[in-house]
Amino acid sequence: MQEFDWKNKVEQKEEKIQLAKRMAKRVKNGDIIGFGSGSTSYATAEEIAKRCKEENLKIKAIPTSQIIEKLCHDLGIETTSLEKEKPDWCFDGADEIDPHNWLIKGMGAALYKEKLNMKSCQENYILVDHTKFVKKLGEKHPVPIEVEIDKINQVEEKVKKLGAIKLERKQSNIEQRPFLTDNGNFLLYAWFPKIEANLEEKLVQIDGVLESGLFIGYAIIVVK
Ligand code: A5P
Repeated sequence: MQEFDWKNKVEQKEEKIQLAKRMAKRVKNGDIIGFGSGSTSYATAEEIAKRCKEENLKIKAIPTSQIIEKLCHDLGIETTSLEKEKPDWCFDGADEIDPHNWLIKGMGAALYKEKLNMKSCQENYILVDHTKFVKKLGEKHPVPIEVEIDKINQVEEKVKKLGAIKLERKQSNIEQRPFLTDNGNFLLYAWFPKIEANLEEKLVQIDGVLESGLFIGYAIIVVK
């Protein structure tokens, strides 16, 4: 499992805590909630746990990563899965949001389950601090793509044909070792100078691509 250093290595920490507090107000007793990944989601999980303790609320979380699942256990929040239950609502962070509410997510590598949660729910809150707003998607971040290890070379060729100008395989903290997702796959970072509405669909059609961090045209509620 990846290490996550919430105490020290988090940008816009105060702003994220304020967003988290606002999100936590939405919690009702009995809610089944999709929990996103990343530092904003981490802060939100903590604020939700505080409310649950103070007001004796019982909820269940559907976590999108092993890190958030462990955090839920540490905070005393019961977890479940999409296989067993459907979320009443979900929250998550994002890496970039453009004027159409299109998103890049998944720099924290949890994009596969983040998209499953979003697709399984009608009420999706995306919490974004001021640094996440961009005029053009892909301005600051590559599109993360989860790829089966054995198909990485052929996937890279096809992603280039879709217009990517630079590709990087995410590396782990251990020198010379590639990073592996919770599903045991590679994470490819693809830089696109232009992101068209059909790119999300085109990427997932490539043999060997499990999912991408492009979220185009989803009905989301932006919390800022
Ligand atoms: C996790 O895989 C991502 O989708 C995160 O939601 C995104 O990277 C935002 O992260 P922060 O909340 O840490 O800024």
